[in-house]
Amino acid sequence: MQYSGIKNKVAIITGAGEGIGFAIVELLLKAGANVVLNDLDKEKAESASTKLNSIYDGNCIAFSGDSGNLSVINNMVDFTLENFGRIDFIVPNAAITIFGSFLETSSEDFQKSLQLNLHGAYFLVQRAAQEMIKQGTGGKVVLISSQVGIRAYKNLTPYAMTKAALRMMAINLAYELGEHLINLNVVAPGATLTERTSNEQPDYSGMWGKLNPNGRVGKPEDIAKTCLFLLSEEADHINGQTIPVDGGWTTAGKYPEDL
Ligand SMILES: NC(=O)c1ccc[n+]([C@@H]2O[C@H](COP(=O)([O-])OP(=O)(O)OC[C@H]3O[C@@H](n4cnc5c(N)ncnc54)[C@H](O)[C@@H]3O)[C@@H](O)[C@H]2O)c1
Repeated sequence: MQYSGIKNKVAIITGAGEGIGFAIVELLLKAGANVVLNDLDKEKAESASTKLNSIYDGNCIAFSGDSGNLSVINNMVDFTLENFGRIDFIVPNAAITIFGSFLETSSEDFQKSLQLNLHGAYFLVQRAAQEMIKQGTGGKVVLISSQVGIRAYKNLTPYAMTKAALRMMAINLAYELGEHLINLNVVAPGATLTERTSNEQPDYSGMWGKLNPNGRVGKPEDIAKTCLFLLSEEADHINGQTIPVDGGWTTAGKYPEDL
């Protein structure tokens, strides 16, 4: 299906040099949007945008920097306005996943999780919403949560807390920004095979395939397709909702220790 209201729109996607963010940028460009592709890693951001520009008509510009940092966020929004003149879509996708038991979590790791996963998303959406309100044409935000922001999972508590908080952020802002026709929804990916997850765990697909009711792991495109729908006009009347894209794990998935 071809979605409406994507062509010529302007998007900022963070943490998009690879993985799920990259797949979101790819679908937006394919549908004719213009995208600022952010990544902490300058080389990754530049090579991803060069690759995508060689394939698609939409225009992709790299912007490197830590999307948890307030001055980077402000510079990124200014850069978007200078290059494209407006902002329509925001997907704060960059996040840090730190594993470890609750009893041994350091304050530093806890703060790192908050800084990128929550502070970064919060202030990017705040600054972009200010611009959207000035533009007077509304806008759309998709926050990236996680299956572990919905259902308990061991050794991921700070990460899971940030991912659950994003769902509350969308609920509150759907109310607070609704009158400006800015809507916010959340996609909660399940275990998804990306460069990072396949490096973290040998046989990631094999293990999570067994834990998910549908017998497979997610692909970055599974998540990106749901984001594209939520950014489109077809989703205009959906606001403040979370869609798990998880093969059914939050409904009836198993834990590794169940195998
Ligand atoms: N992959 C999964 O299984 C999974 C499951 C649930 C939720 N998620 C969520 O989906 C999103 C994307 O996940 P992923 O696995 O594709 O991501 P990832 O960990 O592979 O990171 C993607 C990119 O983000 C960049 N990045 C890291 N820190 C950054 C920062 N401070 N500023 C800007 N860029 C930064 C990295 O360089 C990398 O290129 C995240 O929010 C993650 O929490 C992923």
